[in-house]
Amino acid sequence: MQNQMGSGISLIGVGAATPPAALDNGQMERLVDTSDDWIKTRTGIRERRIAGADSTLTGLGTAAARNALEMAGVSAADLDLIILATSTPDDLFGSAAAIQGQLGASQAVSFDLTAACSGFLFGLVTAAQYIRTGVYKRVLLIGADVLSRWVDWSDRRTCILFGDGAGAVVLEASEQDQLLGFEMRSNGAGNCVLNLNYQSEEKELLPGINVSQGGYQTISMNGKEVYKFAVRKVPEVIEKAMFYSDIAANDVDWLVLHQANLRIVEAAAQRLKFPLDKCLVNLERHGNTSAASIPLVLNEAVRDGRIQPGHVIAASGFGAGLSWGAAGFRWGKG
Ligand code: UT7
Repeated sequence: MQNQMGSGISLIGVGAATPPAALDNGQMERLVDTSDDWIKTRTGIRERRIAGADSTLTGLGTAAARNALEMAGVSAADLDLIILATSTPDDLFGSAAAIQGQLGASQAVSFDLTAACSGFLFGLVTAAQYIRTGVYKRVLLIGADVLSRWVDWSDRRTCILFGDGAGAVVLEASEQDQLLGFEMRSNGAGNCVLNLNYQSEEKELLPGINVSQGGYQTISMNGKEVYKFAVRKVPEVIEKAMFYSDIAANDVDWLVLHQANLRIVEAAAQRLKFPLDKCLVNLERHGNTSAASIPLVLNEAVRDGRIQPGHVIAASGFGAGLSWGAAGFRWGKG
């Protein structure tokens, strides 16, 4: 379908980067009162990659971006826009520009986008709007998170879930529109179930003049509520995105869900009547990498040849906000 407003969109490159250190469930048993069996049965996770003190969000994002640019055959100097989806920047002012600097993308404009585990999906839709209106031709979208910085390593309900990583895709204007349709949602009424909050600490500057000089806490999550939300809302939003994409479940080659929990993937697949072997899963090796999880698993499947040009993908991100969304797209140049 040719977009009426302007250009179509193609996804022409994907890349990923993860820190070298792995932390497996056996090592988790030494940290908190848990077991390999509990973690595997309840989540599907066996190990996760953890960024050490020498690993930065900017470094991971830059490495993933270089991979994606190389596959796309696009030079950083030709990028018009860089969007970094992250909740864990190295710099609260944003880390997109630091990545832009490392890539040497001198003609691009860059900014961060925060939408937790929906960040990559929301970033994809955001990037598409700039291309569709004809404003930009080449966009680099990075999803990257180092949640290990913000995990309470003494809380067994959360610390076993998360891992670190970065993934990236390159989008380009094309005649054929490969982004078939999408739906994005958020619900502030559920905000309290998953947070990484700033906690205020009052400091008196002058008599009667106070400022707040606190810090960020660790991740707090009501796992059961997030689980119920995901199992209910993810199939619904995928169905909406498929409707807007004008595709049925059997037109979809691959279902790519945010990699939070294998049980969520299985429940969504069952509701949508998707065979499990059409679901891309790598959470057993990476855990939940938040904004990085969709491009990480996409990268593996493109590079090992499971995803072929023209394949139809239904992708869905969900998480804090609460936020959730889905998109239908074809892989490769249109
Ligand atoms: O990116 C999006 C954000 N997050 C998610 O998508 C997470 C969604 N939620 C989940 O994936 C699941 O709710 C969890 C994996 C977090 C938890 O699984 P659950 O089946 O909902 O377990 P639960 O919270 O109901 O806990 C069951 C039991 C509790 O013990 P009691 O109260 O029944 O005695 C927990 O204390 O399991 C206990 N438990 C653990 N036991 C061993 C909780 N964490 C652990 C642990 N090891 N790590």
